[in-house]
Amino acid sequence: MSEFVLSETPPAAAEYIGLRAAMGWGIVDEETARITIERACFSACLRRDGRLVGLVRAIGDGCLYFAVSDVMVSPELQGGGHGATLLKALGAFLKRAAKPGASVTLQPLAGREPFYEKFGWVRCPGGPFGQGMVFKDVPPPVGGTFG
Ligand SMILES: CC(C)(COP(=O)(O)OP(=O)(O)OC[C@H]1O[C@@H](n2cnc3c(N)ncnc32)[C@H](O)[C@@H]1OP(=O)(O)O)[C@@H](O)C(=O)NCCC(=O)NCCS
Repeated sequence: MSEFVLSETPPAAAEYIGLRAAMGWGIVDEETARITIERACFSACLRRDGRLVGLVRAIGDGCLYFAVSDVMVSPELQGGGHGATLLKALGAFLKRAAKPGASVTLQPLAGREPFYEKFGWVRCPGGPFGQGMVFKDVPPPVGGTFG
């Protein structure tokens, strides 16, 4: 029987690259993967029989500014409650790390809002901020698309 293990540790570069590619989000090079992994203030990996099958990360200073990134569950395992496991681990981290007044943001892919709403997230127009925005002058992903 398969065993799922959640750990609050960063992924290895190769498995990070592989999981992103499996999501259809394109290929990042090894150095980019290594840098972004090192600079995250939180990572939770879900492994099945040792293989990375889920990930959630937060980038930021670890106290006042956080941006959630890379919420992923392997396609063949989606809909099995693993995203919930990852979001609960993220929420527990944010509750212990975020200082009063902290900014904790995420930029969901279109249509994913109902998923996040189940785990304590609110849409920007419902809170003190305006609608989320992204900087548009960034190269598109190599060999993939978001959505
Ligand atoms: C989004 C994602 C992380 C969710 O993980 P998952 O393992 O499929 O979700 P779960 O099975 O844990 O679902 C938890 C709850 O969220 C709901 N949910 C999951 N995906 C949803 C979606 N896209 N829209 C609305 N609700 C969703 C489930 O119905 C479930 O609700 P319930 O508890 O009332 O039954 C996963 O589907 C995924 O990796 N998708 C592709 C990548 C992606 O879109 N990442 C997010 C980028 S912003």
